[in-house]
Amino acid sequence: MTRTVYVNGEYLPENEAKISIFDRGFLMADGIYEVTSVLDGKLIDFAGHAARLERSANELDLALPVDMDELIEIHRKLVELNGIEEGMVYLQVTRGAPADRDFAFPDPDEVPSSIVLFTQNKPGLAESPAAKTGIKVISIEDVRWGRRDIKTVQLLYPSMGKMMAKKAGVDDAWMVEDGKVTEGTSNNAYIVKNGTIITRHLGNEILAGITRNAVLRFAQEAQMKVEERSFTIDEAKDADEAFVTSASTFVMPVVEVDGAQIGEGTPGPVATRLREIYLEESRKAAV
Ligand code: PDD
Repeated sequence: MTRTVYVNGEYLPENEAKISIFDRGFLMADGIYEVTSVLDGKLIDFAGHAARLERSANELDLALPVDMDELIEIHRKLVELNGIEEGMVYLQVTRGAPADRDFAFPDPDEVPSSIVLFTQNKPGLAESPAAKTGIKVISIEDVRWGRRDIKTVQLLYPSMGKMMAKKAGVDDAWMVEDGKVTEGTSNNAYIVKNGTIITRHLGNEILAGITRNAVLRFAQEAQMKVEERSFTIDEAKDADEAFVTSASTFVMPVVEVDGAQIGEGTPGPVATRLREIYLEESRKAAV
């Protein structure tokens, strides 16, 4: 089925949507993005994703071409036009298309930012079979740039990380810097030891996950203990449980790290409970 996508003010069939070859997103990875999940045809954690988009734009001096009311309107219209019950909405804003390639930023009054949105239909997203078995990860060195708190479209190294994982016969990679886990290729990483949930503190080294924020709040409300600090791969191997969070996977148990089985090698009770709470609460709050 041909999707209807949104490009710079127009709703178009996906094969008619066009972006200039001079677009700075294409030439310079000069762009930011968000992925918002859809359950029951509604947007999950939309306010958080919109707020992070504004923050990313401010950090890069990038003008957003739409306001927040228009943004939710476009999301909702695409979900409706494409009949999405479960899936994702991808949004990307770049610094637009100047007349030629140039390292210097163009004048935003002359070159408007580009905005693109499209949906991804994922029936069964909430009932993912991987959540029942858990996923396996390897560790790789984190060689990304120093502003990972900004959600930019420079995803080459995370893509390479996924390929390293694939080659190693596992599902994903956790990145390690100065001996400590930063995050997964496209998710935040957690371990559970003696009932305490441990996940890296926020900073420039990781993306402040919108799912992370919600999950930590739900964990605290459920009287679970949370420690925001960095941890090593050895600690992960010795943990009772491990998991990752993201808009596209919600809470996903991790059952193996660098070939070492975590806990019983099956999704643990904390990750399983947090997934249930997250899905239940975020469905209730969906817009
Ligand atoms: N990735 N860390 C990184 C590096 C990410 O790319 C993501 C999200 C997260 C989790 O953030 P959130 O909970 O807000 O989704 C953490 C999205 C899903 C992606 O690139 O597809």
